[in-house]
Amino acid sequence: MSDLLIDSFISYFGGTKKGIRAFRAPGRVNLIGEHTDYNGGFVFPAALTMSTTVLARPRSDRQINLIATDLKQMVNADLDHLEQYKDLKWGNYQLGVADELQKAGYSLCGCDLLYEDKVPLGSGLSSSAAIEIATALALVSMGDAAKGIKRDIDMVELAKISQIAEHNYVGVKCGIMDQFASAMGKKDMAIFLDCRDLDYELVPLKLGSHKIVISNTNKKRSLGAGKYNERRNECEQGLSILQKALPDIKFLREVSVQDFLTHKELITDEVIRKRVEHVVYENERVLESVKALKNNDLIQFGKLMNESHNSLRDLYEVTGDELDTLVEEARKINGVLGSRMTGAGFGGCTVSLVRDDSIDEFISQVGQEYERKIGYSASFYISEIGDGGQEIDLV
Ligand code: GLA
Repeated sequence: MSDLLIDSFISYFGGTKKGIRAFRAPGRVNLIGEHTDYNGGFVFPAALTMSTTVLARPRSDRQINLIATDLKQMVNADLDHLEQYKDLKWGNYQLGVADELQKAGYSLCGCDLLYEDKVPLGSGLSSSAAIEIATALALVSMGDAAKGIKRDIDMVELAKISQIAEHNYVGVKCGIMDQFASAMGKKDMAIFLDCRDLDYELVPLKLGSHKIVISNTNKKRSLGAGKYNERRNECEQGLSILQKALPDIKFLREVSVQDFLTHKELITDEVIRKRVEHVVYENERVLESVKALKNNDLIQFGKLMNESHNSLRDLYEVTGDELDTLVEEARKINGVLGSRMTGAGFGGCTVSLVRDDSIDEFISQVGQEYERKIGYSASFYISEIGDGGQEIDLV
């Protein structure tokens, strides 16, 4: 926690350090299991150390004041009339979370909040979930303290409420993966999550002499929500067709590979059939990846990552030139075991499993070829896997 951030809080909101508390929540990288979460399927994300930090201080009125280190304009909102802030350019994630928390029965108090966002925005690394979980944790902690309530905050519940806020305030009908990973991540662990009932297992990320390298296309995403919701809708159509033959299934995740092969002809629309095929096999790949990681079989894990990307490119059709170029160039480097897009797609980032002694070559070669082919540069981060949302000490 930097003194600068505290000074900046005081310069906006006045007072002294007294009463200020700090919270953080991270972005995430998904190792494998893409577009499976809203189909009740399996995912395998990990929380990053890149995170959103929020400084918070309670107020005696019902006002929520929001500002960020990289913004000039403060947002002032009334906790009792939150529905009017749905169209804000910035601030709707936070106010959506506040609104949904109150609807879920949490008693909140007015607060001043200063954000410092270190997850690159719009990069597919869940900068939005980081803001949502940091906000939820700050608001609930402040509200509890104001009422003298002492309890362990239910982070899974905060993840679910943040997901609803994203549906209602941002218009993205996202699954639970990002908010869950941001809330529940653990240092050096990946989360093997079953999105049907939220059972999960933390799996140590033992990568030996390899690292996870994230490559950012730096493509400005403009059509994210529309295309995302369209894919979700296509899956729902596929499900309802298959339910005619498999009346007991509630999610596509309950369709086995064998079921799919037996009944796929029922889906006459080729596009819908391709979407379903991706989901069915991607779920299998998550299960195999977890097994491979537990057996220290990084070669197999890398192979599954590659298959995942190919399926997202050819069947689910959510990649595009930028992501495909990063992946193709990555796979040319000796020492890369696997490379795939991560997150929703349509721009954003890839994740690659790279041998330590190939990382320099990876960054320079992939970077150079990407710029030559796409016309602007990519960014690279060596991922460090960190903890989920938490309060941090103000020193
Ligand atoms: C976005 C959504 C997640 C998930 C991924 C794709 O990150 O927020 O819920 O659906 O896309 O796997």
